[in-house]
Amino acid sequence: MVSTRIHPLAAAAHAHPYVYYAVLRDEAPIFFDTEHKIWVVSRADLIMELMQSPHCVVCPPNEPVPAAIVGMPAAEVFARLIRMNEGQAHLHLKQAIQRNLALVDTACLPQLVKKWRSSECDLYALCHFVPVAVLADLLGFTPDTQPEIMGWIADFVACLSPLSRDADLARASVAAQCLLVHFTGALEGDLPQGSVLAHLLQNSDDIDHQALLANLIGLLSQSYEATAGLLGNCLIALQQHGAVAILSLTSFVEEVARYDPSVQNTRRFVVQDFEIHGQLLRKGDAVLLLLAAANRDAAFNVKGDDFVLNRAARRSLSFGHGRHGCPGQALAIKITTAILSDYLAERDTAGPLQWIYQASVNGRIPRFIST
Ligand code: HEM
Repeated sequence: MVSTRIHPLAAAAHAHPYVYYAVLRDEAPIFFDTEHKIWVVSRADLIMELMQSPHCVVCPPNEPVPAAIVGMPAAEVFARLIRMNEGQAHLHLKQAIQRNLALVDTACLPQLVKKWRSSECDLYALCHFVPVAVLADLLGFTPDTQPEIMGWIADFVACLSPLSRDADLARASVAAQCLLVHFTGALEGDLPQGSVLAHLLQNSDDIDHQALLANLIGLLSQSYEATAGLLGNCLIALQQHGAVAILSLTSFVEEVARYDPSVQNTRRFVVQDFEIHGQLLRKGDAVLLLLAAANRDAAFNVKGDDFVLNRAARRSLSFGHGRHGCPGQALAIKITTAILSDYLAERDTAGPLQWIYQASVNGRIPRFIST
């Protein structure tokens, strides 16, 4: 549903958030939003400083798992995600995941896209199903189990959103349980040679098995909505900025990721009082980092409000920064480019398109309306 009243948490799914972000950047680059009880930061340099700060962590220390899922299987997964941990629990597994994702042979992406994109696939399936199906294939999950995995991942992501209701959370927990059982079986079976899972198992004797299972779910669930949003926002950009030559597609996808990112913000929690830009942040405070606002900061990208296909020295916080930066960035760009390329081989644009943004406090994920 499109929100009409704009505020930091409504901006992600708002039709036009970027003028609002510009005003925040210029007039109040860091301020305390008394209504939502959260610090809001919109300038790139401040956001990068906070993402690197040892005084800020990724989960509220007094609620490491959302209260609504405590005691459910989803909580077991959530608590082990590298995205939700700091220190050794984060670093060791993060490095293993990064190392093994880097081994992925992406030359097969065009064939994988053809395998998973059927000709009658609508825009919803194109954005929400094809990218994760391709990723699951690269990870090493066999095609016969893919439809089930897709359904569970779609249900599981509900536990990552504060907008979820009890029924969504209950479904997320059932999905977490199914995914854990299924992935345990997959790891015990024969894994396709060269798959990420095969590499991870060969190279990760010292990794806790439960943490590995949880983070396999993490890889698929963290890419699910973010990649759906990136691909959807690329289709919108095609309509708004015109057709693009196939050879420039990677630059196009990177510029969309900067200009209209699918992950518009992320949060941090203060663990020790400290001062930044003349403001005192206190232990226990929550901080909202407006990544989408930072990407258009003139000090970060020249003419940041312009869509520039071949932008020189493009900079972006859309995939995070610092120790929690996204390990899937390169892969997400390549998968999205391959899907777009396959799609555009049949047509120049997706249009004319109409869409609304899915209700979300941080994601900018279009839902296209069939006309
Ligand atoms: C367009 C697609 C994607 C976007 C926009 C995106 C964005 C992000 C962002 C902003 C973060 C940092 C969050 C923070 O610091 O608070 C992040 C972290 C993460 N992403 Fe992505 N991501 C995408 C795709 C993927 C894919 C394809 C994978 C897996 C292959 C993935 C796996 C992860 C993981 C595991 C983390 C946690 C890293 C950590 O905490 O150290 N993401 N992503």
